[in-house]
Amino acid sequence: MTAVSEDIETTGASAIPAPEGAITITVKILRFNPEIDDEAHWESYHVPALPTDRVLNLLSAIKNYVDGTLSFRRSCAHGVCGSDAMQINGINRLACKVLVKDLLAKEGKETVVTVAPIKGLPTMKDLYVDMEPFFEAYRAVKPYLIAYGNEPTRERIQSQADRDRFDDTTKCILCAACTSSCPVYWNDGSYFGPAAIVNAHRFIFDSRDEGSEERLDILNDAEGVWRCRTTFNCTDACPRGIQVTQAIAEVKQAILRGKP
Ligand code: SF4
Ligand code: FES
Repeated sequence: MTAVSEDIETTGASAIPAPEGAITITVKILRFNPEIDDEAHWESYHVPALPTDRVLNLLSAIKNYVDGTLSFRRSCAHGVCGSDAMQINGINRLACKVLVKDLLAKEGKETVVTVAPIKGLPTMKDLYVDMEPFFEAYRAVKPYLIAYGNEPTRERIQSQADRDRFDDTTKCILCAACTSSCPVYWNDGSYFGPAAIVNAHRFIFDSRDEGSEERLDILNDAEGVWRCRTTFNCTDACPRGIQVTQAIAEVKQAILRGKP
């Protein structure tokens, strides 16, 4: 996506049914249609909303009643699938997890909510980005159990303590909020990015896995863990509360000192 042009005020939001007790808020969306636009531009919509609505409800109302061409990903609407990461008021969040009541302006002031696509991945249309570079990095770290021979006759037994070792990184939903908040990733798309390292961590520290050395070799690359500058943006952005920066630091330690 190229530069951002002037705002466009959109009318017609009165078509959205207003539930009892609704307040009207302004939703300002960075729009981009590659078929007609040379550059992205902001469009504003006046949307009736309840404090308990999520930002995803606002986007759906605009799409359903005002402009069906508005494009964004969503699926579960419950913070599980990771489809709807976007910048909300400049911060990477899942649209289905952000409540209107947490965005309201002080009494008497107009509430304006800005919504833009996550950064660092090519914008295909509006809030919809091309996730392929993100998943390419994910696949590159071999995010699956590697076991050579030793086929068990029953499940692979693991102690509770061994399971706890990588519990945090099992929570990843591949939303890309971390990777797309990383300044290193913005400037160098060939960096694996935090999410790929989190998913490598999940298997590197799994006592049943035999592929740690392969993964550590991969992440010891010029575009691997050493590009991390420990800005903590990733940890702040993660909607699952994963200690992303800590996971990256543990992978660095494993490369230097071997897997503990
Ligand atoms: S680590 Fe957190 S922010 Fe990053 S992709 Fe996984 S769930 Fe999303
Ligand atoms: S729509 Fe699935 S996480 Fe938000």
